[in-house]
Amino acid sequence: MGAGGADPRPAQSWDAARYARDCGFVADHGRAVLDWLDVQAGERILDLGCGDGTLTAELAARGAQVLGVDADASMVEATRARGLEARQASGEALPLELSYNGGFDAVFSNAALHWMPDADLVAAGVYRTLRPGGRFVAEMGGQGNVEAVRHALIDGLDRRGLDGAAADPWFFPSIGDYASRLEQAGFRVEACLLFPRPTPVAAGLRAWLETFAGSFLALLPEDERGPYLDEVAADLAPTCTAPDGSVTLDYVRLRFRAVKP
Ligand code: BEZ
Repeated sequence: MGAGGADPRPAQSWDAARYARDCGFVADHGRAVLDWLDVQAGERILDLGCGDGTLTAELAARGAQVLGVDADASMVEATRARGLEARQASGEALPLELSYNGGFDAVFSNAALHWMPDADLVAAGVYRTLRPGGRFVAEMGGQGNVEAVRHALIDGLDRRGLDGAAADPWFFPSIGDYASRLEQAGFRVEACLLFPRPTPVAAGLRAWLETFAGSFLALLPEDERGPYLDEVAADLAPTCTAPDGSVTLDYVRLRFRAVKP
């Protein structure tokens, strides 16, 4: 999950237990990305932004030797609680020692890279971490992802006299933007897709906002956060709520496979 470092935007904070309860859909969708990775037994794989370790565990079940990496301590803890190896680090500052011992066969990432806006640092760190011939297979939010949610969150802060856009922690690039950064780092980009994936959110809009909108909430005093979220949820409800009350958000995915020559 989220990045740290010198980024001036307020940091998103995570609650691994709440994430496990409300956000199982994130890993459910990530299984298609695992198929792109095509793990071979015995491969050394780094799961970048491993979250609570759901997909890290699936990589291990497919025979890989896995290391989960996440910027958030509670997510690292949750991954370790599954008996998996995990360490706390930002994807924008991957530790040099990860490239020791010949490097990883693959770096995998699902729904995490959009929390790491310095994509050049991410690409350089992943490149360094891989062995020659190693692959970087990932999916993230792409251009236009959760556009309606993003606007409602920003507008709600702007109405309060704050700079909503400055609180926005997300990086949702186009194919051209991300692919050229990967190439600049030295990768050969074998495939890169951008596609809409409307995503049902069983826990509801309010729970989604409480989990993922922490950087926006951080600009407000505690007692103004609830009313702000109510207002944002009311703004969004007409566009994302079906007559039966179920909620679907306007996700757009950027998925790629790149190889270190
Ligand atoms: C995503 O997976 O696209 C996403 C999740 C939370 C906030 C923003 C984007």
